[in-house]
Amino acid sequence: MRALVVDHTSPGHLSLTDVPAPRPAAHEALVRVEAISLNFGEVHEATRPETPDGTVLGWDAAGVVVRGAADGSGPAEGDRVVTLGESGWAELRAVPASMLGTAPRDTDPGALSTIPVAGLTALHVLRRAGPLLGRRVMVTGASGGVGRYAVQLAARAGAHVVAVSRNPARADGLRALGAHEVHPGPAAVRQPVSAVLDNVGGQHLVDAFASLSAGGTLVSVGRSSAADTVLPADALLGNGGRHDRSIRTFFLFGDPATDFSADLTWLAGEIAAGRLDPGISWRGPWTRHSEAVQVLLGRRLHGKAVLDLR
Ligand SMILES: NC(=O)c1ccc[n+]([C@@H]2O[C@H](COP(=O)([O-])OP(=O)(O)OC[C@H]3O[C@@H](n4cnc5c(N)ncnc54)[C@H](OP(=O)(O)O)[C@@H]3O)[C@@H](O)[C@H]2O)c1
Repeated sequence: MRALVVDHTSPGHLSLTDVPAPRPAAHEALVRVEAISLNFGEVHEATRPETPDGTVLGWDAAGVVVRGAADGSGPAEGDRVVTLGESGWAELRAVPASMLGTAPRDTDPGALSTIPVAGLTALHVLRRAGPLLGRRVMVTGASGGVGRYAVQLAARAGAHVVAVSRNPARADGLRALGAHEVHPGPAAVRQPVSAVLDNVGGQHLVDAFASLSAGGTLVSVGRSSAADTVLPADALLGNGGRHDRSIRTFFLFGDPATDFSADLTWLAGEIAAGRLDPGISWRGPWTRHSEAVQVLLGRRLHGKAVLDLR
């Protein structure tokens, strides 16, 4: 089968080549991949000299089951699925039932492929932030893959969504997704918020933490700014209505026992029904992988990049 493998001699550090097909274990379905979406973390991983040539990366992939798991778990042959795991940038992927969700058969695989890392991260982080109904919730890096899902899901959960995006031109798009306010930075937000989903780190995290009301939680998801986060000495004081605020870390793959199937299936259903926007901002055949990587690494992407396997 063909796969997109790490190749440090190529401009995007990836090339399409033949590799051995996966041999599914008894609890794994074999999936023919139709579309993949790229995440900054894995594309960056491909550029690191420590990542050996020939490595097949890839967390997000959607496709069709060509052979159900031998133990009878999971979906059957012909089912359209969205999958999370490793080595997904390939024509075939072996996946356990806990790492895949099923979708209506006519759902666009490209839209489905945006779900696993971005959609699950937004969903799981918002759950960590607690009940959202009637609460002010800030999302930083709101125009990104995680941010767009977070804005939509927080709005669906009844939150007053405060989106932060450095580029005002994206404000209308974020409002259409459910944001009630759009600000160029957390420091511009005047009213306190109950929860923050922070994708940016650095000064964004410091300013977002300062805007938390008593008892509020900031969940640190990413550090797209690549900046260190330096809290000023008085940032952790609990007086003046700032009592009991917390900063929590998050890692989607933190608990290997997590069963993602129900959440993947729910998100896939919402995409299929048109109730969630997958936020695709770049799409092309996987032969154009170098172009997609340049857009992503150049920080010119505002949403998801999708490659179709054709
Ligand atoms: N912990 C986990 O398990 C987990 C899971 C998924 C993702 N992540 C991490 O979470 C972050 C977001 O992921 P993503 O897929 O949404 O990334 P993304 O699509 O690249 O979006 C990141 C957003 O951050 C903002 N941003 C980028 N550079 C910035 C800078 N220098 N200063 C301020 N804002 C900046 C941009 O929004 P604006 O232009 O609108 O400001 C951009 O759209 C990444 O760091 C990723 O690695 C972590």
